[in-house]
Amino acid sequence: MTNKDNVFNWLACPVVFICTRHGHERDIMTATAMFVSEKEPLLVVSMAEGHLTARLMEASGQFTAAMASETQQKLAIQLGSTRGDELDKYSHFDIPLLDDEEADGLVPADSAAWLKCSVEDIHSIRGYRVVTGRVEAQMDLERSPLIWRQNSFFKLAPV
Ligand SMILES: Cc1cc2nc3c(=O)[nH]c(=O)nc-3n(C[C@H](O)[C@H](O)[C@H](O)COP(=O)(O)O)c2cc1C
Repeated sequence: MTNKDNVFNWLACPVVFICTRHGHERDIMTATAMFVSEKEPLLVVSMAEGHLTARLMEASGQFTAAMASETQQKLAIQLGSTRGDELDKYSHFDIPLLDDEEADGLVPADSAAWLKCSVEDIHSIRGYRVVTGRVEAQMDLERSPLIWRQNSFFKLAPV
C-alpha cells in the first residue's frame, strides 16, 4: 500500500492541540481527533508511544483538546515537529494562552474551541496509544477550525 492509498491520506480530520500537565511538567502537541458517538461526549485521539504527551496524559488521567483554528497552521507545524521531552514548547514558541481558569492555562489563544477530557480508556495498537476521552467541560471560541487531509491543511467552506 502506498501512502496515497492509506486511509490516513483519505480521511479529513480536525487538527487539535493536545494539552497536558502533570506535576511540574506540561506539554502540547499537534494531533487529529474524531468523535466516537453521537450519544455521548466521547472523542478519540491516537498518540505515538514514547512521547511526553502520552505519558502526561496517562499519569494525570486528563487532557485538553484545543481545536486549532484556520489561523494556527504555523503553530500546528511547530508543535507537531518538536518534542516536549526536549524543550518546553509553551516557552520556546512563546505561545499566547487563553485567559480562562477552566482552560488551566494550557490552551493557545486564537484556538477554535477547547474540550477538557478525562481519560476513559486507553489501549495499545501497533506502537500507538489510542485514547478515548470523555468531555467534562468545553468552550466554543467561535473561530473556524483547521482541517488536515492528504498531508495538507484546509479550512471549512459551506457547500
Ligand atoms: C497536522 C499534524 C497532525 C499530527 N497528528 C498526530 C497524531 O494524531 N498522533 C501522533 O502521535 N502524532 C501526530 N503528529 C505528530 C506529533 O505532533 C509530533 O510527534 C510531536 O512532536 C509530539 O509531541 P511530544 O513529543 O511533545 O508529545 C501530528 C503532526 C502534525 C503536524
